[in-house]
Order: sequence, then C-alpha cells, then structure tokens
Amino acid sequence: MKNFRFTCPTTFVFGKGVEAEAGKEVKKYGTKVLLHYGGGHIKKDGLYDRIVQALKGENLEVYELGGVKANPDIGLVREGISLCKNEKIDVILAVGGGSVIDSAKAIGIGRYYDGDVWDFFTKKTPVEKMMPLGVVLTIPATGSEASNTTVVTNSENGHMKRALSHECLRPDFALMNPELTYTLPAYQTAAGGVDILSHIMERYFTNEEDCELTDRQCEALMKTVIKQLPVVMEKPEDYAARAEVMWAGTMAHNGVLGVGRVEDWGSHMLGHELSAYYDMTHGATLSIIIPHWMEYVYQNNIARFVKYAVDVWGIENDVFHPEETAVRGIQKTKEFFKSLGLPVSFVDAGIDGEKIEEMAENCTKFGSVGHFIKLNKEDCVQIYQASL
Ligand code: NZQ
Ligand code: ZN
Repeated sequence: MKNFRFTCPTTFVFGKGVEAEAGKEVKKYGTKVLLHYGGGHIKKDGLYDRIVQALKGENLEVYELGGVKANPDIGLVREGISLCKNEKIDVILAVGGGSVIDSAKAIGIGRYYDGDVWDFFTKKTPVEKMMPLGVVLTIPATGSEASNTTVVTNSENGHMKRALSHECLRPDFALMNPELTYTLPAYQTAAGGVDILSHIMERYFTNEEDCELTDRQCEALMKTVIKQLPVVMEKPEDYAARAEVMWAGTMAHNGVLGVGRVEDWGSHMLGHELSAYYDMTHGATLSIIIPHWMEYVYQNNIARFVKYAVDVWGIENDVFHPEETAVRGIQKTKEFFKSLGLPVSFVDAGIDGEKIEEMAENCTKFGSVGHFIKLNKEDCVQIYQASL
C-alpha cells in the first residue's frame, strides 16, 4: 500500500425530507445565496418551491441562476461569476446533479479570480480557493457532492471537456434525500448507476498489490450497485434501493476507495471526448468505453480481472483457464450495461467513427492517459475502433 493523505470535509445530511434543512445549513456561510439549478426538473416536482421556502424562512437573500445544461458549459459559469462578484454573494446552493454542482464549483473558484475562469481548466492558473458551496443532490451518479473535481465544457474553442481537481473543490455540505430521485427518467438512473460503477472500477483496476481492505470495499460497493440498480429501474419509488444507490454514489467518488493505490481514469478520459464531440450523457459514454477498455487491457494483469470476475460477478474460477474466467467477467459487465438499456457501442449510440482520430488526438493532447496501462494516441484509436 502506498503512502496517502485523505481528507473529505463535506458534511452529509441523508434521508427523507432533508432538503428542508437547506436554509439552516446555508446560513452558516453567509446571508446572500446563489441558487443554481439546471433545466427545470426542480420546478416540475415542487422541489424549487420547497428550497426557496427553506432559504427565505431563514431570511436569506436569494439570487438565482438556472439553465445549467448536462455537460455544463463555461458560458453560464462566466455569468454566475459576474453575478457573484457584482452582488457580493457569500455562498452557492447547487440543486441538481453533477452538471449543476460542477458549474457551481467553477463559479465558486472564478469568483476570486480577475482573469478568465477557463484558465484554471487549461492549468494556466492554479486553483487556490472556492466559495462556500452546498448541494441538494437529485441524481446519484458523479459523486460531485463530495469529490474534489469539476468537469466543464468549452464549446467556444472547439470540442473541449476538461476536468479540474483540487481539494478546495469539495462541497461544504450535501443534503441527500433518496426520494428526490424518484422522478429520474430510467435512462438517467441507468447512466448514473454506470457512472457510479465506473468510479469504483477506475480505482479497482490497479497494479498495486496489498490493498485488500480497499479491494473489498470496492467489491462491496460494486455488488451493491449491481444488485440495486435493476430494482430501482423496475420500481423507481423503492426507497431502500434508491438510498443504497445514492450513498454508493458518494462513497464511490469521495476518494476513500483510491487510497494507497494508483488510480486509472483512462476510460473517463476516452469517454469525455465522446461527450465533447457528441454531447453524450456521461454514463452512456462509459457503458460503451469500459467493456472495450477492459478487453484491451486485461492481459496486462489477468489475475486482477479473474478476481473481478469471481468476487464481483460470482463467476466460478477455472484455475486451468484463468483467461477465460477473466473474459467472462468482462462479458458480464457488457451484458449488465445492455440490460439497463444503455449503449455498448458507437452504433448503439447512433454515432459513426468519423471523429476517432481527432478524439484520440485530443484525449492524449497532454500526454498518455490511464495508469493500469498508459494509453497513447494509437491505443485510444484502437479502443474507439473496437467500440464501433
Ligand atoms: O437539467 P435538470 O432539470 O436538472 O435535469 C437533469 C438533466 O437533464 C436530470 N435530472 C437530474 N435529477 C433529476 C433529473 N430529472 C428528473 N428528476 C431528477 N431528480 O438529469 C439530467 C442529467 O443531469 P446531470 O447533472 O447532467 O447528470 P450527472 O449527475 O450524471 O452529471 C454529469 C456531469 O458530471 C460530470 C460529467 O462529465 C458530466 O458533465 N462528472 C463530474 C464528476 C465530478 N465532479 O467529480 C465526476 C464524473 O466522472 C463526471 O465526469
Ligand atoms: Zn464519471
């Protein structure tokens, strides 16, 4: 196990009705709050009204910025920064999923910077601090409610979707009511579930030995999501199953599963290009890439893929043919993604291979990606081609 340092300062308030505590929590950080949200689902189901009531009930001054798109764009982030600077806003409350939270994180760092916020994403300027940020989570998926990362798209200068990580990007608190996820369309539930699995896999597939505790934590989380996802697809209002998936999403990406080991992240980098070029849902890029990434890399460490097949999928280990056991685990993964109604190829997603070279070039612009195996441009081309 490698040396590590791990801090996750976010406070989680979990359970039925916890969004009613929004006012009390926000008040700890100031009196002027920016309420940030997406395309409007929160207005359909009454959540917006409940949040505004909770904020006004504590005499907070509420400013609003809605309209965050999935794969959030830098344009709205800039608007949010101006609003926060001009109105001297103290704290942001993000109500939604990863896109809204990430947009809020970018606003929160841009607020203290005189230049263009995109400079942080191109690494021209180092990040130092973020405004206080609270979250009301409405989709379990990205783990952004506790992660140290924000992912933003810049559609002005070509196709660029970039992740930025820094410890100051972790929210101060997250209000997590599994009931709020009942209204999720099946596709978003499935895509979110695959994103959760992917965050575990990006850490589980490591060449680091002697990380037994975190291996087992990873396996427990993967098995939980694999068990509960079909339940919530079938019964969207099953509270117990929704709660398991929601908490798994946070645990998958708050960093605890990555301690003591080298994480991978190659699949995410390949997937981000699909979102940048085709505006695809993040989880649906991963349901395509992950099985093909696995097929491309498993021979590098067959023992790890055998462990995955046996300990996660319950496949019997064929000791004389470990490679076959490993391959069966990969097949199971692909079948599971398909059974959720997600694409597992470019064809399923209705896209062609025209941009493969360009995506591979963009993906490796700053060097190779991934650590389980380092992928160069040609490797990326091959994985995309296998995904056709
Ligand atoms: O726009 P609204 O009205 O909010 O609707 C959203 C959106 O259309 C809808 N939705 C959310 N909760 C709902 C709901 N609809 C009905 N009922 C509800 N309760 O779902 C759609 C997708 O929302 P979005 O926020 O885009 O989904 P997600 O949470 O999957 O976020 C995806 C973004 O996060 C990034 C992704 O790349 C992508 O840009 N990621 C962020 C990470 C991080 N910050 O740590 C890590 C991840 O790996 C990921 O890259
Ligand atoms: Zn992800």
